[in-house]
Amino acid sequence: MRASPDPEDPILFLDSGLGGFSVLEPTRKLLPHAPIIYAADFEGIPYGEKSEIEVATRVCALLGMLAERFCPRLAVIACNTASTIALSHVRGVLNLPVVGTVPAIKPAAENSRSRVIGVLGTAATIRQPYVDRLVTEFAADCAVLRHAAPELVAAAEAKLRGGFVDPAIIKAALGGLMGQVGAENLDTVVLACTHFPLLIDELATATPHVRFIDGSAGIARRIVALTTGQPWPDVPQGGMFLYTHSDHYPPPQNAVLAGFGFTARATL
Ligand code: DGL
Repeated sequence: MRASPDPEDPILFLDSGLGGFSVLEPTRKLLPHAPIIYAADFEGIPYGEKSEIEVATRVCALLGMLAERFCPRLAVIACNTASTIALSHVRGVLNLPVVGTVPAIKPAAENSRSRVIGVLGTAATIRQPYVDRLVTEFAADCAVLRHAAPELVAAAEAKLRGGFVDPAIIKAALGGLMGQVGAENLDTVVLACTHFPLLIDELATATPHVRFIDGSAGIARRIVALTTGQPWPDVPQGGMFLYTHSDHYPPPQNAVLAGFGFTARATL
């Protein structure tokens, strides 16, 4: 690990797709001069439907290759699925600080008055022992209802490509939580997949009495803390959007990428 990075050394973000934009946004607000490299693994999406070994292997290989190529000062796994499965593996192989995105169960438990909270994530995330440990440590006195909503990953990807988000898909995903025993008192839902905050307007419209919580603001503060005192370029930086090839998930239009601060894109 280098003691002092160069001003141009980037912060590297990785997700299976565009979900990590929800983590990137608050980080860019706090660190507008930070050079950003964002990698979307469209070839591997959806991570939430893959096995643990597939996700861990893919994420370690991709981050290893990106770290070698771009010498980032810090890497952010902007994906709950990859973080809950592979954070410790990645930290073991990369010689740089790695920030993970794990379900925001602690702030949700702090927020809940009813002591009934929901966790909406991918199938792979909600079955992880990492999530069990977060519940034991931070929400032991809460009933924690979990539901996998992979259809929201596809809906968020479609939305950022200009697609219509069918309210029935949102309703069905929330219904998977609200239909569970004890859910009548549920007051807080953890968005435990980085794609889901991209649908916050649709989710909040469908369930106005529930508070949705995700970890992106906390991650941005953590990145600031880990880079305090480091040099940055003198002017705000445009980000670089990289992606693995998929016939089903082309990159979004340049105007959309520009809205998230990207000025360049390339395939990996
Ligand atoms: N954005 C990812 C997450 O936070 C995963 C979506 C997927 O590839 O299934 O879990």
